[in-house]
Amino acid sequence: MNIDSTTSQLVLAIDTSTDMLACAVAELVPGQAGADVRVLATGDHLCRRQANVELVSTCQDTLARAGRSMDDVDAVLVGRGPGSFTGVRIGIATAKGLACGLERPLFGTSTLDAVAWGVWRSGVRGLVGVVGDAMRREVYPALYQVGEAGPERLFDVESVSKVPAAVSAWAGRADHDQIMLAGDGLKKYRVQFEAAGFSRFADEDAWNPTGEGLLRALAAERVAAHVGSGDATAPAQSGDPALVLPVYTRLSDAEENEAKRLGLKEPATVATTGCDDALADRHLQLRPMNVNDVAAVAALEGEVFAPSNHTPWSARLFSDDLAEPGHIWWVAHDEGQIVGYAGAVMAGGDAQVSNVAVAEGHRREGIAGRLLARVTYDAQMLGAATSSLEVDAENAAAQRLYAQLGYREVGRRPNYYGKGHDALIMEAQLPLVTPSRHDTPDPHASVRPWPIVAAPRSDEEAAAIAGAGPLILAIESSCDETAMAIIDGAGQIVANVVATQIDFHARFGGVVPEIASRKHTEAVVGVYEETMAQAGAHFGVDTLVPADLAAVGVTQGPGLVGALVVGIAFAKGLAAGSDLPLIGVDHLEGHLFANLFETPDLRPPFVASLVSGGHTMLVHVRDWGDYEVLGQTIDDAVGEAFDKVAKALGLGYPGGPVISRLAAKGNKKAIHFPRAMMHSGDYSFSLSGLKTSVITYINNENKAGRPINLPDLAASFEAAVIDVQVAKAVDAVRQTGAKDFCVGGGVAANPQLREAYKRRFGHMGVRVTVPPLSACTDNAAMIALVAKRRFDRGELSDLHMDADPNMSL
Ligand code: KG4
Ligand code: ZN
Repeated sequence: MNIDSTTSQLVLAIDTSTDMLACAVAELVPGQAGADVRVLATGDHLCRRQANVELVSTCQDTLARAGRSMDDVDAVLVGRGPGSFTGVRIGIATAKGLACGLERPLFGTSTLDAVAWGVWRSGVRGLVGVVGDAMRREVYPALYQVGEAGPERLFDVESVSKVPAAVSAWAGRADHDQIMLAGDGLKKYRVQFEAAGFSRFADEDAWNPTGEGLLRALAAERVAAHVGSGDATAPAQSGDPALVLPVYTRLSDAEENEAKRLGLKEPATVATTGCDDALADRHLQLRPMNVNDVAAVAALEGEVFAPSNHTPWSARLFSDDLAEPGHIWWVAHDEGQIVGYAGAVMAGGDAQVSNVAVAEGHRREGIAGRLLARVTYDAQMLGAATSSLEVDAENAAAQRLYAQLGYREVGRRPNYYGKGHDALIMEAQLPLVTPSRHDTPDPHASVRPWPIVAAPRSDEEAAAIAGAGPLILAIESSCDETAMAIIDGAGQIVANVVATQIDFHARFGGVVPEIASRKHTEAVVGVYEETMAQAGAHFGVDTLVPADLAAVGVTQGPGLVGALVVGIAFAKGLAAGSDLPLIGVDHLEGHLFANLFETPDLRPPFVASLVSGGHTMLVHVRDWGDYEVLGQTIDDAVGEAFDKVAKALGLGYPGGPVISRLAAKGNKKAIHFPRAMMHSGDYSFSLSGLKTSVITYINNENKAGRPINLPDLAASFEAAVIDVQVAKAVDAVRQTGAKDFCVGGGVAANPQLREAYKRRFGHMGVRVTVPPLSACTDNAAMIALVAKRRFDRGELSDLHMDADPNMSL
């Protein structure tokens, strides 16, 4: 479906980037100069920090006031910010869910543009400065020339700056008193602008984005695109909800600080980030380039470009470039060797790829594509909308690779590589096409058709799907995996997809909440589609469609709030768009239920230990849904202790798998570590003392110049953890008289812990269940089990549900 076809289209527009929940339902009517906006109803209202609660019902109410229903919606439009990070993501994730549920296109537009259109609507003409609130004494400054036909941008990409910098950037354009200011940043910073000589402020009603402003911005953008391309039917945006992403103006704090660190001129001691390849057992990793890599990168550059006329960059050139703002470099390393690198430089809204190379023995492994994806991702976070590069006109293989990533030829530089040897200029829209999303990449199309139309089904296929129901889709996004699964009426998992972000967090030694939240927003549509396709394959069709589902389950908590809201907002949009009931699930209950994959006849009462990166507790499961928490940790969680010890040893994140692999080869009696609260007589745990004594041990050995025996250290640390865990579990089983014991959470994947429980309880005649390894760490199959039970009992949630980061059993 194309929004600018000849008939009018009903568009639902939303934006939660600011304290204003903007919502409007309008018809876009093809007009003379493009589309006219005919607003049918608006639901704009101030709603501080309640967007996730109110957004979906506001959409429904606004549609009702327009005399329409969800089914009538032809397209969804969302404000992409910039604005409050969480706010932007709630709007975008909800909009993605709506588009998937409705099977309709999703478009995005700049929230600042929407504000400018609101100012235009209020009758203001001339120069208008929109000042969005970026928190931390910063603003998103955007200058427009507003004429009768609407506002025109006088800037390339949305950016962020301190108030004084914004003021001085506009000083060259006009006198301060010629610029009319608007934007929610004025609520806090108006005085500063006044002090700098600004005296004209738009009516406060025009400071926030409105649904109508979004719609006008979209209509204008599409008209502009048509005029520019000379093709009246070329859509400016494809409508693919996977491609609509927030406008970010900076990387996460963790990444920004890292970039600063890496760019330092003389940091001979920059720690090589990321896991040690061999220990982590994860080969080929990508990370930002640092000064320590420069020599190896220059050597590789020399090798790769020796046969061509291209002059290789020297180490000096690389290290100078690394320190430049707006220059982005990534390397791929394997077993400690640099095997590839790529770099780009920001030029306005374009990320110009300056170098990309992969070592001889590592070609055709997709490394160049992955490197370019990382480099252009960072560039996008800095405001790039496109990426361009030059490629040898005679290098067909390279051109094919770039075409697969979405680059298309836009020009030619004659004689660039010497006489008669041209370069092609290729350009791609960001984000690049991820190869895995296309089975057979079409080099001529950088966008795929959306909505995806499911192939027709035979009567038997349709009957098989209907007969397997009720089918429930479950969504998990509480930490660093974006996961979805589908469970059928018989309790079988018919699809199970986990997209892990570990790569993005490993080099920081732990999960960075801001990165987790961004990655969920980016991955959610792809994971949804893959899950629906996997379930489709189970039934012999290409994909399931929302109408095949009976309900949507989603993790409500506990977890990282910024991560939870993405899954929840998507789930709510999906449920509202396809008229399905919503079911909120407790993540910890999911970890408990994961034991049913191993022991389907497991029945309460029993005792369970939940051990993950965030939790350490003993639970008496009196009945499903009736949980008595016998005790929990008073400080760190077990998984957290593993992660912190690994970080102290420079082993990267997550720590559990590396430590347990090392421990398997070590002597657990080599070092004595304290068993805190072993005999406290209750079910409380404490792990921070153990963590501290391990770190103290490491420091002391380092100081004394003694090499640390990693396997012995890991085994001794693990033994201290396991002794306490087992002792308290035994007490709990004795006290409750339980005949079953089970374990849940990421740490349940630890082989030594699993073994210790089996050995100890084996002697007592207590049956021990541990989930299959894949069901220990976070996944949505376990969430689906809980959702199904809720669904069967009619325990549904409503669409006002919000994330509950501290939810307890
Ligand atoms: O359940 P999970 O995936 O996420 C949370 O809800 O926290 O658990 C992740 C945690 C991490 O701390 C990780 O280090 C730990 O589980 N973990 C392990 C092992 N595998 C994962 N801890 C010990 N031994 C393991 N083999
Ligand atoms: Zn978990």
